[in-house]
Amino acid sequence: MNSTLFFILSGEHETLPPAEVMAVLESEGINYKNVRLSPKVLILEAKQDCLPTVVSRAGMCEVAGRLVLKCRDNEREIIETAAALPFYDFLQPGDTFSVRVHRVSGSSRHLQKMELQSRIGEVISRLAGGSKVDLKNPEKEFVGVISQGYFVLGYVTAKRQDQGAPLRRPQRRPVTHPSTIKPRLARCFVNLSRARKGGLLIDPFCGTGGILIEAGVMGCRAVGLDLDPQMILKATKNLRHFNLEHVGLAVADSRKAPYLEAPSIATDPPYGRGASTQGSELADLLAEFMAEARSVMQHDGFLCIAAPLKIKVKEIGLDAGLNVVEDHIARVHRSLVREVAVFSRRRRKYEEKVPWKSYS
Ligand SMILES: C[S@@+](CC[C@H](N)C(=O)[O-])C[C@H]1O[C@@H](n2cnc3c(N)ncnc32)[C@H](O)[C@@H]1O
Repeated sequence: MNSTLFFILSGEHETLPPAEVMAVLESEGINYKNVRLSPKVLILEAKQDCLPTVVSRAGMCEVAGRLVLKCRDNEREIIETAAALPFYDFLQPGDTFSVRVHRVSGSSRHLQKMELQSRIGEVISRLAGGSKVDLKNPEKEFVGVISQGYFVLGYVTAKRQDQGAPLRRPQRRPVTHPSTIKPRLARCFVNLSRARKGGLLIDPFCGTGGILIEAGVMGCRAVGLDLDPQMILKATKNLRHFNLEHVGLAVADSRKAPYLEAPSIATDPPYGRGASTQGSELADLLAEFMAEARSVMQHDGFLCIAAPLKIKVKEIGLDAGLNVVEDHIARVHRSLVREVAVFSRRRRKYEEKVPWKSYS
């Protein structure tokens, strides 16, 4: 049976975090519907038992659970709505619990977070007889988010356990490079390519291995290619450091793929600033690569790729005969805005599920 679920998203980007959650659901074959999005909060209907899988896989979502209430950012309305809810569904008599409220920056300054936390805590204690607030070591957790005109309260059932992520920061690897991709974004790319545990993922411009590390940790059979033998050496050292010897590496030109069928391709090609295109024009390199990728992509395969906005990677993919699944714009710094595009080989009906045209 479906429940209404909430996902607290990292605020580093508006559309990549919800897209990542939805891509994970899709690659795990989990049906979902009625998607609603506010800044940092994604709400949808799906089976509750999907939550641990989603939270352990997604790089940009750390907490999720069952939605308890969603209403306008009016304290009276919040407390009255809470007071009518069956909190005994979530708490056994005597359970300790916490309520933590976060604010999406700039939202609803008239609401005091601490005040709201303690008033909701009182309501829950009263309704779930005998339950007490314990902020340090609670048995059960509720999380609230004040997000652009709305207040959302959820009961937490899944939290990311992967404390290793900070250890995989580029600065802590044996070898790094200015062009390397950050772990959370790398994980997001892997998920947007609909990779699966045990499934094959290819990064044809792998550099020092940022995407491969995340794919390897997630349990993919990953393979990285790079034209520069030095990069392959560096990636080898990084992958060994994380005991990811199962990830394959080869010196190869991504325009002449040494693989036959790729279900998932996730890649961050050179973008003409430091990372070398080895003498090629970036747009030409990407056009040749994407034509090749299309010929080796599995019928139901996906490609997630980033490029500077001015390169128009979406058009290059369309010219190569690929179908656009989704497209995100990410500002890296003032002079670099990147486009992250996801393509499929097969034409799909996807647009109706994409919620980020309007917040509600
Ligand atoms: C932006 S870097 C990749 C960074 C990587 N994601 C990381 O975490 O280190 C792009 C890489 O593409 C490689 N490259 C350039 N042209 C290539 C080609 N035709 N085939 C394969 N690799 C190529 C470069 O050597 C460089 O290492």
